[in-house]
Amino acid sequence: MYVAILGRQPALGMAELEQLFGSKHTAWFGDAAARVATDTLSVDRLGGSQKTGRIVAELTGDWRRASQHIIKSYTQAWMAHEGKLTLGISAYGFSVSPREVQKTAIILKQKLREHGVSLRVIPNAEPALNTATSHHNKLGLADNKVELLVVSDGRTIIIAESVGAQNITALAARDQARPRTDAFVGMLPPKLARMMINMLAMPPGSRGTGDDPDILRQRILDPFCGTGTLLQEAALLGFAVYGTDLSEKMIRYSRDNLNWLEESHRIHFDWYLHEGDAMTTTWQQPIDAVACETYLGQPFSAPPSAAKLREVRGNCNHIVSDFLVNIHPQLSSGTPLCLAVPAWRDARGLFTHLPLISGLERLGYQRRMLTHVTPAQLLYYRENQVVARELLLLEKA
Ligand SMILES: C[S@@+](CC[C@H](N)C(=O)[O-])C[C@H]1O[C@@H](n2cnc3c(N)ncnc32)[C@H](O)[C@@H]1O
Repeated sequence: MYVAILGRQPALGMAELEQLFGSKHTAWFGDAAARVATDTLSVDRLGGSQKTGRIVAELTGDWRRASQHIIKSYTQAWMAHEGKLTLGISAYGFSVSPREVQKTAIILKQKLREHGVSLRVIPNAEPALNTATSHHNKLGLADNKVELLVVSDGRTIIIAESVGAQNITALAARDQARPRTDAFVGMLPPKLARMMINMLAMPPGSRGTGDDPDILRQRILDPFCGTGTLLQEAALLGFAVYGTDLSEKMIRYSRDNLNWLEESHRIHFDWYLHEGDAMTTTWQQPIDAVACETYLGQPFSAPPSAAKLREVRGNCNHIVSDFLVNIHPQLSSGTPLCLAVPAWRDARGLFTHLPLISGLERLGYQRRMLTHVTPAQLLYYRENQVVARELLLLEKA
C-alpha cells in the first residue's frame, strides 16, 4: 500500500491515479493525498504527485503520537546501522510548526548518537519539506537517505517511507532545455502532459519497453501537437507517437524536440509527424488513443469583454467540434481521448466553457466518468490565468 502526496491541483493528480490503478485501488486520504493499493508506485511515472511513499504504519491520534511512534521504531530499526544516515520528516494535514516536526528528528538523532549512529537531519522550513529539497537531497532514493511522509486525514495517521520526490530537474529540462519552445502557442507543462497521457488509461502491456523491437507499441496521436510536449511525455512513457499540426513551423519544432529527446535521453522510439488541419486530415492508422491540447484561442491578461469572449469561444468551439467530427469515423469504438480545451475565468473565478461540452453525445463521444473526481474538477490553471485548460476524458461511443 502506498500514499501519494498530490500536487498543486490535487483532483488532477487523483484522476491520474484513478485512471492508472482503478477506482477500487485508489482513495482520497484527506484532501491532498491518496492511498493506492499497489506493490510499487514510482513518482517518476506520474505528473500529478509530488512524492510517493510505501506505508509502514497507521495509527490514530495527534502529532505527539506520531512523533513518539517514529522515535521508538526508528531508534530500534537503526541502532545497529553502519554508516551515515540522512533523515527528513514531512508532516501533512497536521497543525504543527516546522520546529515541532524537526524536534522529532533531533530527538531521534540524539538517541541514535547514544548507539554510535550518525544521523544527518534535513531542516524543516515548513512542516513538509518542499519537493526541491527532497529531490536535491535524493531522499527516498537510497536506503540511507530516508524521508518519512507523515499524513493525517483528521482521524487516521499514515506513516510512509518516501520512494522519491518528483524529478523537478528532469521536468524543467524537458520544459526549457529542449531546443524549441514557443511562447505564443503556449507551453503545456510537461507535468500536465504526463497526467493527460496517464489519464488515457491504456491497457497494461500496451507500451513497449524499447528493448524488444517485436513488441508493437500502442500509438498515441496528438493532432494539435505544437512543439510536441505531449508526444515527448508519451514517448517517455513507452508509447509510439504521432503528431500533426496545421503549422509547418510547429512540425519542425516538434521534429527538433523529438530528435533532442532521443539524443539527450539516449532512447529510441517510433515517431511520425506531418502537417495537417485537424478539421480535415485523414490520419494514418493505427491510432490507439488521442491526447491533445487543442487551439486555445488568444491569450488574455485580463478577462475579455463579453463580445470578445463570444468571438473567441465561438472560434475555438468551431475548430474543436469540427476536429471531433472529422476524427470520429477514423477511430474504433472505445478509443480513449484526453483533450485539453479552453475555459475562460472571469473576475469572480467563474468559468465559461465551450458549448460543445454539453453536446458530446451528439458528436458520437461518451464522457468517461471517474469515481473520485468530478468533471468540474478537471480544470488546470494558475491563480492569475484567464484561459484555463479543461480536461475532457472521452471515449468514442
Ligand atoms: C495550444 S497549441 C498546442 C501546444 C502544444 N501542446 C505544445 O506543447 O506545444 C495549439 C496548436 O494547434 C495548432 N492548430 C490550430 N488550429 C489547428 C487546426 N485546425 N488543425 C491542426 N492544428 C491546429 C496550432 O498551430 C498550435 O500549435
